[in-house]
Amino acid sequence: MIADVSKSNKIVVEKSTVPVKTAEAIEKILTHNSKGINFQILSNPEFLAEGTAIQDLFEPDRVLIGGRETPEGQKAIKALRDVYAHWVPMDRIICTNLWSAELSKLAANAFLAQRISSVNAMSALCEATGADVSQVSHAVGKDTRIGPKFLNASVGFGGSCFQKDILNLVYICECNGLPEVANYWKQVIKVNDYQKTRFVNRIVSSMFNTVSGKKIAILGFAFKKDTGDTRETPAIDVCKGLLGDKAMLSIYDPQVSEEQIQRDLSMNKFDWDHPVHLQPTSPSSMKQVSVVWDAYAATKDAHGICILTEWDEFKTLDYQKIYDNMQKPAFVFDGRNIVDVAKLREIGFIVYSIGKPLDEWLKDMPAVA
Ligand code: UGA
Repeated sequence: MIADVSKSNKIVVEKSTVPVKTAEAIEKILTHNSKGINFQILSNPEFLAEGTAIQDLFEPDRVLIGGRETPEGQKAIKALRDVYAHWVPMDRIICTNLWSAELSKLAANAFLAQRISSVNAMSALCEATGADVSQVSHAVGKDTRIGPKFLNASVGFGGSCFQKDILNLVYICECNGLPEVANYWKQVIKVNDYQKTRFVNRIVSSMFNTVSGKKIAILGFAFKKDTGDTRETPAIDVCKGLLGDKAMLSIYDPQVSEEQIQRDLSMNKFDWDHPVHLQPTSPSSMKQVSVVWDAYAATKDAHGICILTEWDEFKTLDYQKIYDNMQKPAFVFDGRNIVDVAKLREIGFIVYSIGKPLDEWLKDMPAVA
C-alpha cells in the first residue's frame, strides 16, 4: 500500500516488535514495487510499558534508531533523530544498524523477564530455607551492577509481550542453528509456568489437598495493576488450575469486565489471537465462576483468598471484616506480596505469601504435587 501511494522518496519506520530481519522483508517488497522511488527502512522499537506509557514517552531511558549503514540510511536516521531531539537529550538517542535495533528490543524484554524468573526461582528456595525473598531482592539489588528494579517476586509475569518476545527469540535461535541458546531462553518461560503451577499446588495442598466445591475469592485478574489488560495474565492459569480441581471462584478486579473474564477462562491458550465472535465458550466450567464488583462480596463465605494482581486497594481492605465473614480456617494466598503477613496472622488468617517464611500450617505440605 505504501508503494502504491508513494510519489516521492519515503522513510518507513518499524515501531512494532518484530522478528530480526523483518526490515529486510519490508525493504524487498517496497523496492520491487517502487517505480524508482527510494525507500529507507528504519527500526525504532517501542519500550513503553502499560500504565506508564505517557511518562515513558516523555522521559525514555533511551530511544533506539536502527538503519542501513549507507549514506541514504544515515540520512534517514538523522531525520528521525531530529524529531526525537525536540524533547529527548541527544545522549539518550542511540543509533545502530538495523539488525541491532530489531534484536535489542527482543533482548531487552528477554532480560526483563529473565530477572523476574530469576527472583521467582529464588522465591521457591526462600520458602524451602526460611529466607525472605523481599530481603534477598533488596540485598541483591543494592549492588549497583544489578540494580533494584524488576526484582519483585510474583505469581508469574504476564502481559502480551514477554512470552511472545522470548518465543520469538527462541525461534530465531533455532532457525540460526543455536539450540543451546534457544534452550537457555526457553527456561525463562518454563520457570514462569512452574511458578504458576507451584502457586496452585500450594493452595490445594494447604486446603486439605482439595478445593473441590470450596469458594475461593480471586482478587485481581489483570496482568498488572493500573490496567484492564488480561493478555497472558497469570490469573488465567491459576484460575484454570483451581477450576480443574472443581473450586467455586468468585472473582473481583477493579478494571476487568465480567465478559472479559468469562472469555479468558473459556478459551484455549493462544485463542485470543482469533476474532472474538469465533471464540467458543464452555458453559460447564463457567458455572463454577462468578464475577463480582467488590472485594467484600468476593470474599464473603469464602474458604480462601488469592491475590493475583497488586492493586493498591487490596492493601487497605478491612481484613478483620473479611475474616469475620469467611469460613474457618480462613486462608490468604498472596501472589504479589502486598499484604502485611504478621497483621493478617494476628487476625487469624493462615497466610501464604510468595517467597516468605512459611506459616506453621504450610510447613509440612509439599510445594509441588
Ligand atoms: C513490557 C516492558 O516492560 C516494556 O519496556 C516493553 O515496551 C513492553 O513490554 C512491550 O514490549 O510492549 P508491559 O508488558 O506493559 O511492558 O509490563 P511490565 O511492567 O514489563 O510487566 C510485565 C509483567 O511482569 C507483569 O505481569 C508484572 O506484574 C510482572 N512483573 C514485573 C513482576 O512479576 N515482577 C517485577 O518485578 C516486575
